[in-house]
Amino acid sequence: MLPQSGLSKAEIFKRLGEFANLDANPYSGRLFTIAFEPGNEELREVAHRAFEMFMDKNILDFTEFKSAMKMEKEVVDIAKRLMHADGEVVGTYTFGGTESVFLAVKAARDNFIIRKGFQMPEIVMPIHAHPCYEKAAEYMGLKVVRVPVNPETLEGDPDAINEAITENTAMIVASTPNWPFGTIDPVKEFAEIAEDKKVWLHVDACVGGFILPFFEKLGEDIPEFDFRVEGISSMSLDPHKYAYSSIGSSIVLFKKPFYKMLAQYANLRWPGYPIVNPAVLSSRSAGPLAATWAILHYLGEEGYTELARKILSARRKIIDGFSSLGFKLLGKPRSPIVAFTSEEVDLFTLTDVLMKKGWLVLPQISKKDFKIPRSIHLTITPIHDMLADEFLRAVEEAKSEAKAPAEAEVVRGLGMITSLLSTGEDPEALRLLMTRVEQYIELYGNELIKAFGLEKGLPDEMAMIYELFDAIPPEITELLVNYLVIELYRRGF
Ligand SMILES: Cc1ncc(COP(=O)(O)O)c(C=O)c1O
Repeated sequence: MLPQSGLSKAEIFKRLGEFANLDANPYSGRLFTIAFEPGNEELREVAHRAFEMFMDKNILDFTEFKSAMKMEKEVVDIAKRLMHADGEVVGTYTFGGTESVFLAVKAARDNFIIRKGFQMPEIVMPIHAHPCYEKAAEYMGLKVVRVPVNPETLEGDPDAINEAITENTAMIVASTPNWPFGTIDPVKEFAEIAEDKKVWLHVDACVGGFILPFFEKLGEDIPEFDFRVEGISSMSLDPHKYAYSSIGSSIVLFKKPFYKMLAQYANLRWPGYPIVNPAVLSSRSAGPLAATWAILHYLGEEGYTELARKILSARRKIIDGFSSLGFKLLGKPRSPIVAFTSEEVDLFTLTDVLMKKGWLVLPQISKKDFKIPRSIHLTITPIHDMLADEFLRAVEEAKSEAKAPAEAEVVRGLGMITSLLSTGEDPEALRLLMTRVEQYIELYGNELIKAFGLEKGLPDEMAMIYELFDAIPPEITELLVNYLVIELYRRGF
């Protein structure tokens, strides 16, 4: 509630402190999830100061706040150099990988329509590509086709991509690496297909863009994945991942200015100020951009190389440790991301047990049609080099404590939602389902909240929920989580 009269500074920060206590500590090194922690306090100070200096400047008007254009040019130039781009390549600073991908999809879609006229364009990509492509497709009227990957290496399979390309294919995607398994798709082979079939190739280096060049420098076997390869139309890379920048930092690179024109937005149809938005958002704080500029210049080549060395050392310890505990490494990860599976340990419960011990890892559901088992995912960052041994001891302990939920419980959970049926790909079935969903949540919304144990907020144990995600078709679980998360936000847990 808006207070009648303002609170004191002391009260404000007391309350904000209480909010902060609800959080996992992103600096602790105990997160193997979405926190990219270099373990360097001075670096954090530099980023925070830069952020604060520019947080009240709006990138929207670069004629008013000229610094934004200057900083953006220098940040984009660094990304171009790392990705071996030539002078023709142009880039845009965005607030995240998803936003960069939106711009690439928009450009690819319009390029397709210019050449082929109006028809529903498609994106073909390996099963492990990030969901932001489906999100962009849903917003912009495209269809996504996910194809199998090499079952041994879990790298993208060029033959599967090639076979799925049709007259309607506008774009194919290579991930370097993908998020679930950290494996790298064969960009050269994908690029040959793109050139042959005249489709747009987007290389998603959101995770890899600021780390793989340094792995390569340290002698790791990294296949060429950037503009050294002919046939790439666009790339995305995120400083807020392995450049350790403040959150709200990504770059999309286009092979030539015309492609960027297809993504950028200009509007002079109203009586107000002329709009020229290089990115999806219009008003944006220059804070994250300044923090990105600051961190890139603070660390430099040497700083990034040193941090990459720490990641490689941590990755070695973690792969060896998990293997000796009987877990199986999935595929052939060449990046800082690894995933493990196990036939003896219940991985969803293991995640809960580890969480109670203060360590966070990400559980991943299986994709049986694609012969992909359940797994746990670890995003390895430089701070983990120092903590790997302690973490492995916690995993060993957790392994003996992780007991799978009783089958009867899982079956009960499943029974609860069987009245929602799978729709497959049929749009009419989906429309009918949505009419029923509207009624269903009015009638049974509260029951669902109770059934999932969410009346008091997120439960301490998530294994049961993951069991259900693993068992139910995604079209149904998507509806379910969509509704449940709306309720969680409404209640403010
Ligand atoms: C490969 C890949 N692409 C795109 C994204 C989307 O990035 P963001 O979360 O910054 O929007 C991610 C996020 O994890 C990713 O792993």
